[in-house]
Amino acid sequence: MRIPIIAGNWKMYKTPAEAEAFVRELAPKLAPYTNVERVVCPPYLAIPAVRSALQGTAIKVGAQDVHWENEGAYTGRVSPLMLKGWVEYVIIGHSECRRDLGDTDETVNKKVKAALAHGLTPIIACGESLQQNEAGETRAFVSQQIRGAYAGLSAEQALKTVVAYEPIWAIGTGRNATATQANDIIGGVVRRTLADLYGNEVARQIRIQYGGSVKPDNMAEYIAQSDIDGALVGGASLKVDSFVELVRITAETVK
Ligand code: PGA
Repeated sequence: MRIPIIAGNWKMYKTPAEAEAFVRELAPKLAPYTNVERVVCPPYLAIPAVRSALQGTAIKVGAQDVHWENEGAYTGRVSPLMLKGWVEYVIIGHSECRRDLGDTDETVNKKVKAALAHGLTPIIACGESLQQNEAGETRAFVSQQIRGAYAGLSAEQALKTVVAYEPIWAIGTGRNATATQANDIIGGVVRRTLADLYGNEVARQIRIQYGGSVKPDNMAEYIAQSDIDGALVGGASLKVDSFVELVRITAETVK
């Protein structure tokens, strides 16, 4: 059985003090929902404060990106060696990093390998643009992103990953993919590509989230779908009440 995972991607929101206060309020409210994996991904600078505030809780911490080298002349970057011990998850290949920070399928692949080498669980983001969607290119494009991200990974490594399918046109726009559209791509493209690469048995075990304008009022529809194993959430993860609602709805739907 795939344990659902709700991860909050805070992007460039919350100072260390704000992030710490937030998780102190959030943690007790999320405590009852033990059948859902709960993850927060603060900005790098807030990670230590968040991590120590979450000591003794089951809530996990993730980073929003990582470099593939352990160290080097890479101004502004953070290495997997630096994250190790502080986070368990790392988002890799978010469309905003592909757009603004030059991530490509090749760098995503290097980052995934580096994260795994340091025992971090990558949340590998993929998803098509509006233009690609309207041109009918979604299936081919997403499949290619998955093949790129997993190039050279063994089945054993693949089992340690999570995928987030996030159509770019749905991120932060309020224009979410319908649950059936999302399930069609997640099951029919992402999981199917993983099955081509690793066989059905492995593909069946890998968790795949949907992301893009997930809110408490659409969460139940997504999590009820056969292939959707949770959500990567931006905006709705920035408020305690909506974060708790997403987790509660997930916990109650999968029960
Ligand atoms: P959103 O962002 O929930 O605000 O649409 C999702 C994401 O970028 O991961």
